[in-house]
Amino acid sequence: MTVPRLTTARLVLRAPGEEDIPAWFARASDVEAASLAGDRVPDDISDGARWLALSRQRFAEGKAVKWSIDQAGVADAIGTITLSFGATEARTAALGFVLGRAHWGQGLGSEAAREVVRYAFETLALQQVSAEAAARNVASLRILAKLGFRHVESFIDDADGERCERFVLGADIKR
Ligand SMILES: CC(C)(COP(=O)(O)OP(=O)(O)OC[C@H]1O[C@@H](n2cnc3c(N)ncnc32)[C@H](O)[C@@H]1OP(=O)(O)O)[C@@H](O)C(=O)NCCC(=O)NCCS
Repeated sequence: MTVPRLTTARLVLRAPGEEDIPAWFARASDVEAASLAGDRVPDDISDGARWLALSRQRFAEGKAVKWSIDQAGVADAIGTITLSFGATEARTAALGFVLGRAHWGQGLGSEAAREVVRYAFETLALQQVSAEAAARNVASLRILAKLGFRHVESFIDDADGERCERFVLGADIKR
């Protein structure tokens, strides 16, 4: 089993590899972006090997699919997007995405998220995709709204005290 390759007008989504570790480290070390996404900032680039190993292990165990996102004409992957499957509820997954700061505000996050949501429902036949975003993460909230996600609840993230919003999208929603 390999991570399926997905393509959009501007992007190719493909399996992460060793070559992605430097760009991953640059993204993950962006303190403001990590805070927006609720991610831990890595200690140093050696964490990259663990990041890649975990992503491969979770895919092999059927727990998640993580794609690296390539943009035509850009040398390094511009970000990642992930579906993490429900531990107890079959046919559900959580969606998460991160782009490097240089690539924000060009509609690329929307483009990648739309394709992965399509894949989740059309190919994987999931019944529901959920997503969480910090209440101050305007771009993420906008992407989820554009894709038709419905707000479920607000909550405080125990890890960092951040106010967050939870959303779901059902397979029956017209996109
Ligand atoms: C969230 C993220 C992936 C968005 O990707 P992106 O490619 O910049 O988003 P898009 O360009 O597709 O923009 C999405 C929408 O948000 C709007 N938007 C983007 N940044 C905004 C801002 N700072 N303020 C207001 N609106 C904003 C865009 O105008 C667009 O709306 P529109 O289509 O109606 O014009 C990217 O900002 C990122 O990686 N952030 C850090 C990590 C993170 O927050 N991950 C998500 C965790 S849930």
